[in-house]
Amino acid sequence: MSADTSEGHGGGMPGHMIPVALRELDATDGGLLDEVFAGMSAESRALRYLTPMPVLHEQTRRILSAVDGCRHVAVVALAHGEAIGIARMISLGGRRAELAVEVADDWQGLGVGTRLALWIRDRAARLGYTELVAESSARNHRAHALMDRVFPDHTAHREGTDLVFTFSLAPSRTDVA
Ligand SMILES: CC(C)(COP(=O)(O)OP(=O)(O)OC[C@H]1O[C@@H](n2cnc3c(N)ncnc32)[C@H](O)[C@@H]1OP(=O)(O)O)[C@@H](O)C(=O)NCCC(=O)NCCS
Repeated sequence: MSADTSEGHGGGMPGHMIPVALRELDATDGGLLDEVFAGMSAESRALRYLTPMPVLHEQTRRILSAVDGCRHVAVVALAHGEAIGIARMISLGGRRAELAVEVADDWQGLGVGTRLALWIRDRAARLGYTELVAESSARNHRAHALMDRVFPDHTAHREGTDLVFTFSLAPSRTDVA
């Protein structure tokens, strides 16, 4: 894929010239978590974690690094080797899992989040999950637009200042224990 706009991206190269590759995150990729986190503004971090998050604490970092390819799966987007976005699903038990997506500020609005969410959606279905849920601030219109695009049949309900989205998946396998 190539990002599809010429707005700024750190290195000064037009976005549409920079290929973006996706690959599954593994448990040794903690440095990539730091790169994406560093590229996010205070506002983006608060939208992602639903609380102010000035630093990525070691305990949170450990949890986010603890992928196992089944109950916790993450995918990273790389542009010229630099991590610019991550999406993950973490099992909630049974065939339900939680979805979260984050993209570095300079890369938002270019389709990266959509690609990451599609990757997780398809992997979750292959693993046998039948439902994904995602929580976002009710004011996070960009996240809502992403959910509308990737999961057109979702439902959503309000919990305080947040919206909780529920997405049904059609599993192609039944690996979930
Ligand atoms: C939410 C987020 C992951 C979306 O990723 P992204 O790469 O920016 O999204 P995309 O470029 O794939 O665009 C998704 C949708 O947002 C729309 N969009 C882009 N900029 C927008 C803006 N400023 N306001 C509203 N919608 C916008 C796009 O048009 C697209 O909608 P469409 O499907 O109707 O075309 C990203 O903005 C982000 O990391 N935000 C901070 C963290 C966060 O909010 N995470 C979500 C919590 S689950």
